Amino acid sequence: MSWPSPSSMLSLFLILTVPLANAVVYECPAECECDLMPPNNASWAVFCHRGGINDTKFAEILNRLPTTLRMLEIEAPSWRPRNKFKWNDNLNRFSQLRVLRLIGSGILAISRSIRLPSLEILDLRHNKIEHATMSNFGGMPALRFLDLSSNKLSILPTGVFTYLRSLRSLSLARNNITDMSTNLLRGLGTLRALHLDGNPIPIKHINDVFSDVLQLEDLYLNQCNLTAIANLSLDRIPHLRSLGLARNDLHAVPTAELHLLHRLSFLDLSGNQIREIGPCAFCSNNLTSLDLSHNLLGLDKDAFHADAFRNIPLYELDLSYNHLDNFESTNLGWAMDSIRILALSGNYIQGFPMQLTEKLTALTHLHMAYNDIEDIPLIFPPEYINLRFLNISGNRLSHLPDNMGRMLPKLKEFDLSFNRFTSFSYSALSFINYLERVYLQGNPWDCSCAIQNLQAHMRDRYALRHQLKYNEARCAEPKLFEGQPVLAVIEVNDCAVLFGARYGLTQSSELLILLGALLSAALALTMLLLCFYCVREKQYKGTYVTREHSSAASEPLSPANPMLESISYHPIHSGTLPSPPKPAAAYFGI
Ligand SMILES: *[C@@H]1O[C@H](CO)[C@@H](O)[C@H](O)[C@H]1NC(C)=O
Ligand SMILES: *[C@@H]1O[C@H](CO)[C@@H](O)[C@H](O)[C@H]1NC(C)=O
Ligand SMILES: *[C@@H]1O[C@H](CO)[C@@H](O)[C@H](O)[C@H]1NC(C)=O
Ligand SMILES: *[C@@H]1O[C@H](CO)[C@@H](O)[C@H](O)[C@H]1NC(C)=O
Ligand SMILES: *[C@@H]1O[C@H](CO)[C@@H](O)[C@H](O)[C@H]1NC(C)=O
Ligand SMILES: *[C@@H]1O[C@H](CO)[C@@H](O)[C@H](O)[C@H]1NC(C)=O
Ligand SMILES: *[C@@H]1O[C@H](CO)[C@@H](O)[C@H](O)[C@H]1NC(C)=O
Repeated sequence: MSWPSPSSMLSLFLILTVPLANAVVYECPAECECDLMPPNNASWAVFCHRGGINDTKFAEILNRLPTTLRMLEIEAPSWRPRNKFKWNDNLNRFSQLRVLRLIGSGILAISRSIRLPSLEILDLRHNKIEHATMSNFGGMPALRFLDLSSNKLSILPTGVFTYLRSLRSLSLARNNITDMSTNLLRGLGTLRALHLDGNPIPIKHINDVFSDVLQLEDLYLNQCNLTAIANLSLDRIPHLRSLGLARNDLHAVPTAELHLLHRLSFLDLSGNQIREIGPCAFCSNNLTSLDLSHNLLGLDKDAFHADAFRNIPLYELDLSYNHLDNFESTNLGWAMDSIRILALSGNYIQGFPMQLTEKLTALTHLHMAYNDIEDIPLIFPPEYINLRFLNISGNRLSHLPDNMGRMLPKLKEFDLSFNRFTSFSYSALSFINYLERVYLQGNPWDCSCAIQNLQAHMRDRYALRHQLKYNEARCAEPKLFEGQPVLAVIEVNDCAVLFGARYGLTQSSELLILLGALLSAALALTMLLLCFYCVREKQYKGTYVTREHSSAASEPLSPANPMLESISYHPIHSGTLPSPPKPAAAYFGI
């Protein structure tokens, strides 16, 4: 079945109609946004994010969509009415469907008669699924990614995933799994990533699972109440590249336990009780990215051993929320030359001291959010000249200095959300206009006139509005617009019309300035005329005698304004004359 390609591009929320050969008309459902997909626009990607979808509406939506549907995503943001529906076997119509996300929709069970031969991604996070059996997954042989996190699964029968021969990533995180049957993952020779976070699974069962998937590369055991991992048989999965051990109860870096993982490149130890990083803590690994946020590294004086980061190609390090009040770049020791991304958010650093970044020559990304910073200094430390990303979110800043562009010449991304900015100066605005991504949410924006320039900045980046959370950049003033998204404010009455917008002036202040200018101009003119008359007076005294004889020649001098004369001398005609133009109106363009 071939599709005529639609003539005009759909914009968001546009209702789209595509005539089919047999005259069936498919319409983008009112609850959704529909995108045409390359290469030939014949298939659709459909996003339904408005909430309030029940069984009836779900069935209606499915009926409206063409069989060439490629992607369907249904999820309600927290401030919209919730979705609540059951699985609908009409989904089987979409034999070309590759991506199906039915998130937080109150689904109680997966159908046993699914036939979705092209499905690669199935995302059923945050539902209420209690059971899963082999027959649920028999009809999707191409599935590569299965997310069943945050459901109510407790016991998974042996062989439940047997048919998923292409599966690469499986998430069973945040369920209620206390018991994993042996051989649960037997035969899943392609599985690379396994998420078991937040389940009360005994370590013995986790070890049993490892035996089935020796090829595992990514393992997540975050929030599993682990006090130690000595009994975890990580030696069975030597190919591990990523390991998540966040939000457990570890009191030290498990150096010995990790020593067989020579390929380990990403390690998440955030949210534990770690107070120090000992010598050669990761020497046997190949760490490039290390998350140590939300630990206790600021409590001890010498938390970082001089050899702590020896022998690893570390380039990303997160030390946020560690009670640090004075961090020195020399703490990084061996990693000083390689660190590109450094996060120090949520500490008590209160500024941008030199020793923080000294000699970090590779640094390009710096997070300094939530550090109680009140001012941006007139000069940043020299390393900032290479920064491409700077995060100063959650501080107490209200002003950007005029020389930001010179201090941060390579900056592309800037997070200044959750500060106290109300508006930007002209120079601050030209600085942020030059950047690619600027996060503005959580500031008390003043949405009177000057906001138009900020709106223009945001409209230029409209395609990034979800990432940049434009919905959460809201007005605090004036009262009329309080709480409204900055981009939603269209009726800004109080607007400067001439030059004021460039300098962030409102209409009233602009009018005041103009009035002042007019008054002083008038004053100057009066003075000038007075002087002029004084001079003439002196001259006339000398020529007074001749004036009587040449009255015709001197006549134009006497009525200063012929129009005024005609009005005062011929009041009857004044109505028919065009009224004199109001200078104010002409100036202000009213
Ligand atoms: C797809 O749609 C867009 C917008 O309507 C159009 O510009 C483009 O040419 C279309 N592509 C094809 C291959 O029809
Ligand atoms: C679904 O919601 C619509 C209104 O949004 C309502 O008219 C309809 O009765 C509901 N259907 C069910 C099965 O609850
Ligand atoms: C978790 O599963 C156990 C039985 O395995 C059950 O007793 C308990 O109520 C479940 N907890 C939740 C939160 O569903
Ligand atoms: C972890 O332990 C706490 C308290 O001991 C308990 O409430 C929680 O359910 C446990 N979580 C897991 C995943 O075992
Ligand atoms: C590890 O296993 C041994 C015996 O199998 C046990 O005595 C010890 O308590 C276990 N350690 C942890 C942290 O679970
Ligand atoms: C270590 O990581 C580098 C890339 O950072 C990679 O080229 C190298 O092969 C890795 N070594 C091992 C043993 O995995
Ligand atoms: C900035 O840092 C805060 C706090 O760590 C974080 O929540 C936020 O996501 C960061 N911003 C960006 C753009 O990464």
